[in-house]
Amino acid sequence: MSSKAQERDLIVSKIRDGIVIDHIPAGRALIVLRVLRLRGGEGRIALVMNVDSRRMGRKDIVKIEGKELSDDELNLISLIAPTATINIIRDYSVIKKFQVKLPETVKGVVRCRNPKCITNQPREDAVPAFKVLHLDQPILQCQYCGTYLTIDDINAQLMGER
Ligand code: CTP
Ligand code: ZN
Repeated sequence: MSSKAQERDLIVSKIRDGIVIDHIPAGRALIVLRVLRLRGGEGRIALVMNVDSRRMGRKDIVKIEGKELSDDELNLISLIAPTATINIIRDYSVIKKFQVKLPETVKGVVRCRNPKCITNQPREDAVPAFKVLHLDQPILQCQYCGTYLTIDDINAQLMGER
């Protein structure tokens, strides 16, 4: 193990069973928790921020024990941290590793920004749903009213700025 790796491992220990989300761009660990709707009430969660990475310069890592997440839920991370890799840990070993990839649709994570959209009407129970379009950057299109949401819109919404 390199001294850099040793230094990193001093910050937070290996987990026994759970999910390690690695290679998150530095500073994005909190928004990763938000896109996964983890508010601190479930499971044991460790955030490691601004550690050295050969590939990325600096990166964040999120470790989750005691809470299962589906591949679809984990792939939502690609919207706000496209470099993230998922490691599934069982009995201290990595048994599955994959790069997050954009889903075809996104449901119930962000709101439409059109106030007249049916998903924003209090008496309707339509869950917001978006199709993922691939332009220069990925962009979401509301399946009900066609309004677009950019990655910046998603970031701002998840961080509670609007
Ligand atoms: N990890 C952990 N607990 C374990 C096993 C691994 O927290 N029981 C973490 C490691 O610290 C690392 C990530 O899971 O952050 C991936 O582990 P591993 O594949 O062993 O590391 P690398 O080979 O460095 O991963 P990569 O090739 O994806 O960079
Ligand atoms: Zn809409």
